Amino acid sequence: MKLSDAKATLTFSDGRPSVELPIYQGSIGPEVIDIRKLYGQTGMFTYDPGFLSTASCQSAITYIDGDKGELLYRGYPIEQVARKCDFLDACYLLLKGELPTAEQSREFHKDIANHMMVHEQVRYFLRGFRRDAHPMAVLTGLVGALSAFSHDMHDVSNSEHREHAATLLIAQIPTLAAMAYKYSRGQPYVYPDHSLSYAGNFLKMMFATPCAPYEVNPVLERAMDRIFILHADHEQNASTSTVRLCGSSGTNPLAAVAAGVACLWGPAHGGANEACLNMLETIQREGGVAKLGEFIAKVKDKNSGVRLMGFGHRVYKNYDPRAKLMQETCNEVLGELGLENDPLFALAKALEKVALEDEYFVERKLYPNVDFYSGIVQRAIGIPVNMFTGVFALARTVGWFAQLNEMLEDPEYKIGRPRQLFTGSQRRDIA
Ligand code: CMC
Repeated sequence: MKLSDAKATLTFSDGRPSVELPIYQGSIGPEVIDIRKLYGQTGMFTYDPGFLSTASCQSAITYIDGDKGELLYRGYPIEQVARKCDFLDACYLLLKGELPTAEQSREFHKDIANHMMVHEQVRYFLRGFRRDAHPMAVLTGLVGALSAFSHDMHDVSNSEHREHAATLLIAQIPTLAAMAYKYSRGQPYVYPDHSLSYAGNFLKMMFATPCAPYEVNPVLERAMDRIFILHADHEQNASTSTVRLCGSSGTNPLAAVAAGVACLWGPAHGGANEACLNMLETIQREGGVAKLGEFIAKVKDKNSGVRLMGFGHRVYKNYDPRAKLMQETCNEVLGELGLENDPLFALAKALEKVALEDEYFVERKLYPNVDFYSGIVQRAIGIPVNMFTGVFALARTVGWFAQLNEMLEDPEYKIGRPRQLFTGSQRRDIA
């Protein structure tokens, strides 16, 4: 980051001396006012619950221009990454900063394939869960449990160890997610297959059984790969900030990522894809397109507690570029499976149109986000609704590692320790 010539001056209306604060410039995007010395100089904290105006770190990985609706991975527009790379090349880009050469790409694909099989003891962990447990609860537990298998190999101060942790979990998370699904169905686990792609492996581990040969459908494979690319990183969102904060204590990197999985589960974040599909199914059950007006009225009524899931974003105040790409994939997958007239897809398109023309959404700049169409694609592929967020976690694992490693390599990194505005009781004594 570059120190700007300009400075910010903080003045007080009650005669306290004013304070000068440095301003830093990034390569693109808003400048930041450096308040690190503010407490020392004034005895005051800043107050920003929800981080509406706070840059929590400097980062060179992912850039979002929320007004333009632009998303860049290491400078490359998401549209180009989605159309020209496969997921593992996108992982390499996010982790290392540059796209791999052909040789580097081959090595990276091989390395990931070689690590996909999980320790045989992982199946005993699964046995402890109820068969109807939510897959995100299972996945949070399994990712945390992996830290028990390799703690001695994961010293966070060692960059090679960190690279190993990233390779290990990027490779094993599809296996873990598929095992969680197979367990819920009471079906045998399917081992990874070195002859298949990363996305192809996930599909096979999810849907193959020992009773019949399984052939990966290339359209569904490509769709899965695209879902992974679109969810791979999204700068300092809630789960990534959780991973950074958790990892800032120097904990095991797999344990830090388990904290990210837990955070992602919530319906305001990664859980929105599941909530969105449940919402569409409820509207469909209650009358479909004819009932959209009633549903939108409920969404606009603040007392109803109903939100239009898959709409709105803290950063995007324009169409989420991932939603456009997801809609494209949705058309391809439904076409391949002969589901062009899928009633839920038709309902989603009608709902999107109504919302985009409604003053409430226009005024607040609420547009479809990535989760609006991803559930429809996943459902068409055969992924059960309660697994959708698990697929998001699978894809986001690379982003969590890229961000965690960037933080640990930052010479300015410190343990995260926010302060507070205390509003509780002053000191008192027990009578
Ligand atoms: N439906 C109805 N009203 C909404 C919605 C929505 N989906 N999103 C925002 N609003 C309204 C909100 O009520 C508020 O209105 P007012 O100014 O009158 O009080 C205004 O828009 C601003 O909303 P906010 O809650 O202050 O915005 P935020 O930045 O804190 O929340 C959000 C962002 C994503 C949590 C929110 O838009 C939301 O709950 N969306 C639905 C859940 C969802 O789709 N989440 C997935 C996000 S993308 C995937 C990911 O990155 O995890």
